[in-house]
Amino acid sequence: MLGQTYRKQLLEQMTLREKAAELSQLWGENPDGTLMGLRHGFQKSTHLMDHAGSFLGFNGAELVLEAQRLHMEANTHHIPLLFMTDVIHGYKTIFPSVLGIGTTWDPALAEEMASVAAAEAAVSGVHVTFSPMADLVRDARWGRVTESTGEDPYLNSLFTAAFTRGYQGDGIDKPLHIASCVKHFAGYGAAEGGRDYDSTQIGDYSLYNDYLPAFSSAIDAGCELLMPGFNALNGMPCTCNRTLLQDILRDDLQFKGIVISDCTAIWELVPHGVCADNAEAAKRSFEAGIDIEMVSSTFYENLEKLVESGDISIEQIDAAVERILLLKDKMGLFENPYKDADPEKEKELHLCAAHRALARKAVAESAVLLKNDHQVLPLQEGEKIALIGPLSDSRELIDVWGLVNGEEKDCVTIREGLADQDILCVPGCHQWNLREIDAVHPSDDALMAEALQAAASCDKIVLALGEHPAMSSEAGSRSDLSLPANQLELLRALSCTGKPIITILISGRPLLVKEIADLSDAVLMAWFPGTEGGNGIADLLTGRCSPSGRLTMSFPRTTGQVPIYYNHLPTGRPNDTDKYESFKNGYIDIYPGPLYPFGYGLTYTEFDYSPVRLSTDQVICQDDTSAEPLLEASVTVTNTGTHEGTETVQLYLQDVAGTYSRPVRMLKGFRKVMLAPGENTVVTFPITADLLKYYIPGRGLTLEAGLFRVFIGSDAETSNKNEFTLTI
Ligand code: GLC
Repeated sequence: MLGQTYRKQLLEQMTLREKAAELSQLWGENPDGTLMGLRHGFQKSTHLMDHAGSFLGFNGAELVLEAQRLHMEANTHHIPLLFMTDVIHGYKTIFPSVLGIGTTWDPALAEEMASVAAAEAAVSGVHVTFSPMADLVRDARWGRVTESTGEDPYLNSLFTAAFTRGYQGDGIDKPLHIASCVKHFAGYGAAEGGRDYDSTQIGDYSLYNDYLPAFSSAIDAGCELLMPGFNALNGMPCTCNRTLLQDILRDDLQFKGIVISDCTAIWELVPHGVCADNAEAAKRSFEAGIDIEMVSSTFYENLEKLVESGDISIEQIDAAVERILLLKDKMGLFENPYKDADPEKEKELHLCAAHRALARKAVAESAVLLKNDHQVLPLQEGEKIALIGPLSDSRELIDVWGLVNGEEKDCVTIREGLADQDILCVPGCHQWNLREIDAVHPSDDALMAEALQAAASCDKIVLALGEHPAMSSEAGSRSDLSLPANQLELLRALSCTGKPIITILISGRPLLVKEIADLSDAVLMAWFPGTEGGNGIADLLTGRCSPSGRLTMSFPRTTGQVPIYYNHLPTGRPNDTDKYESFKNGYIDIYPGPLYPFGYGLTYTEFDYSPVRLSTDQVICQDDTSAEPLLEASVTVTNTGTHEGTETVQLYLQDVAGTYSRPVRMLKGFRKVMLAPGENTVVTFPITADLLKYYIPGRGLTLEAGLFRVFIGSDAETSNKNEFTLTI
């Protein structure tokens, strides 16, 4: 680092126009799709381009080396560019989509994946990734649930910290580490109707208890940047929401880093209806706390006038520019503007065997076994398999954000993963992209006939169905969570053959699985499994690996049920049965509760739990700041099946009577234990005051006396419980 004196001198030398440029991030592509990047024969130099602070989506060692060289020459003060892009579950080696990383319940694995992603990105010249995504999600209609780790604040917090540590390591100046940007602050996942970019209404009680913890966790882990969401929060767009970006972010959460707008989000303040024009949008977003404007150019076009008119002070401008210069200095870019960009290292690291092996392991840990009747899985030696479905030999196993830098050509298909099995592989039907809702799809008749013929001569059917990558992620909201109709027709037809059906689902979100499960003997939810998808899925189907994934989003019975989540408030008429009860919370046309709950997932064995034991049922807390456990809860878990398996033992707490109504239960701990058949182990959870506190508007984090219930089991619906009374 060159230090504050150097940076202060730079600030003194920079003109106001140069400072406005430093606060601007340019898109890596010209409107015609050619690469922008500093006069690569496509675009003449401009003052903005020569003095921009950063580029979006412009990476690759050769390109970055040249672009940075040209920039350093052209920039009056030789200030290096920051190169930023979306590396959210891998750069070239693509890991399972983030919702699938969440279902591993393995933050350490997530940290390892982030570290690999950072290394692959760094050698391609990337300095900053727009990850982790910390949005709590409860509505599977929203396409971006695929980018989140799910519906639980505690689990999401563990993952956002793990991702941040993985990317940033023990210093962003160190080789092969990059800066991370936590997003989308805040409440973006609560978009009304699951419609992307729609309004969100979240009161402080839920904002602080549900939506902010994962951001706070990333900030505490040292996340260098933060991105507000596109959404209006309680009527005020996050991009110009002073309460959010100053009072909550800077004061409450003590964030000291850079705030970067989302892509064109400042321009969008005009259609949001809060600014009359781009000049006002620049003023309101900058005043609220945006440091870098992504892609839109209102800062560059208006900040000088706003300072001259006295609307914005030069001190405010300098504070924002200083944060950017500080990040560049912390990364060592003033001494070495090229950092890790290295074409030879790219060839060595991208998709190397070690990275592929980690991706393959992640696929096996992320998939969730939803059903496995009469042990139809794992496949047995010598069985003849009809591998059917539009995703049976497809490389479309990467979600949209993974495709920013990842490539489908590098994916291993399910057929390729099963190459050592006796399989006959046919598509059975076409793979539709439902975004083309008015498209006329080709007939599946011939494919269906071929599939039925293949089914006739096999012992078991492995059916690979699911979403097209374009059916989820950003702007991928769906009003109906069903599989495409032609895939359901294929399943219905095959179910009439009487052959066992193992359905593999490839998807970015919870789908409607009721009919699929009714017609299948086994169902494996594999998310968008990424580059090693075929191998990881094959490892599970053949029993080389045992399924251990656990859901982190509730699976609804119908689309009408969403938003649905386990940590809901009890209401005054709770119905915690799975039966209809009149005049109770629920519907008259479906049973209450999800089809598959948070925390659910099968293995190839069975586990038995002892009753929950507590070290005491009367607890006195004299110092609620102490990290000492108030009591311990434990169970004995036994593998009562015939296969080795990994059980995710989950601890849930319920605050039975608080000042505010509290969720029916909250995840407060978990432990993954691998047990051989017949083996048992004692799992003990220390319960500290921190686990019992919650945010009360106007009072902050608070510990309250009273009755608490302790649940320990294999998913959020466990009835294995005990209780204690807390006195303070
Ligand atoms: C997008 C997304 C954001 C992403 C950014 C840069 O519109 O909302 O998550 O990081 O643009 O690609």
